Amino acid sequence: MIVLGIETSCDETSAAVVVDGALKSNIISSQFVHVKYGGVVPELASRAHQQLIVPVVEEALRTAGVEKSQLGGIAVTYGPGLAGALLVGLNFAKALAYALKVPYVGVHHMEAHIFANFIEQPVPQFPFLCLIVSGGHTQLVLVRDFFDRELIGETLDDAAGEAYDKVAKMLGLGFPGGPAVDKLAAGGNAAFVEFPRSFLNGKEFDFSFSGIKTSVLYWLRDYQRSNPGVSFAQQPGLLCDLCASFQAAVVDVLVEKTFRAASQLGVRELAIAGGVSANSELRKRMNALAGERGYRLTIPKAEYCTDNGAMIALTGYLRLKSGVSSDNELNAVPNLAL
Ligand code: KG4
Ligand code: ZN
Repeated sequence: MIVLGIETSCDETSAAVVVDGALKSNIISSQFVHVKYGGVVPELASRAHQQLIVPVVEEALRTAGVEKSQLGGIAVTYGPGLAGALLVGLNFAKALAYALKVPYVGVHHMEAHIFANFIEQPVPQFPFLCLIVSGGHTQLVLVRDFFDRELIGETLDDAAGEAYDKVAKMLGLGFPGGPAVDKLAAGGNAAFVEFPRSFLNGKEFDFSFSGIKTSVLYWLRDYQRSNPGVSFAQQPGLLCDLCASFQAAVVDVLVEKTFRAASQLGVRELAIAGGVSANSELRKRMNALAGERGYRLTIPKAEYCTDNGAMIALTGYLRLKSGVSSDNELNAVPNLAL
């Protein structure tokens, strides 16, 4: 079965093709229109998706060497995400499926992030504990089988990616900030500032990242007060140290809580997913600790961590293969729960 996957939940327009579950193409067009606003502007995202969806889908089919007439089904993200952005992909998928007389299926964006771990070998063995860290979500999910899972914990305020983006904005590093902070942190001293680690005693599987974001804000304010007129941007060493210190605090909490949960649940198999799982320090620390403590860990290639059509195509393929498809009534669900 040949399945086309379409992803338009935020600011990436992406399409991919899988043939019997094997990935043949994955085209991602990132929208740079948001950069000057320091964050995703929903209406601009919708308009950009409208302009990009046809060329991105055509490129995905061309790269895979597949004709539209060969498609056996279409998969599309229907939530969570930005309402207008989701509607562009969903309506496109419905119309194309109707024209080609093939089934289509709405895919849960966070479920697809988990299944990004199945795009390439080696894949996780069930049951496994998955840490999902993206721009809008930070969740620990126990995955018992493809469509059998349990939410173990999640953030009570900001998502990890959101904290990265907000701190990057404070530091004047542009948007999205995660990759920029990651890069600068590599050359910095993580012990420069001891930012707070929020372990939330009593809610041991939940997360909180708003405190650390505020701590960075206060640190910058105090620094500016005691160094009036000094531009932070002109001190690259300081910027690297600050990024490394912030990153160490976030990664400490993510890693520690994941291993604590795995130990309590008696799970020996781990995976990570979502945009922040592209982070070099998180990947390094997860790998090191998994090796040390005897856990098996799967991490998707960076390209499959951030938003992509490949994970949607694969998840849709699994759904369609098990006989599940969507009808024309399906609507976009911006706050779709896991
Ligand atoms: O999964 P994703 O592409 O979109 C959502 O579903 O939200 O995640 C985007 C988030 C952004 O907050 C971005 O800053 C963050 O992932 N991110 C990173 C890195 N690459 C992307 N955060 C830290 N380090 C990175 N290398
Ligand atoms: Zn995502």
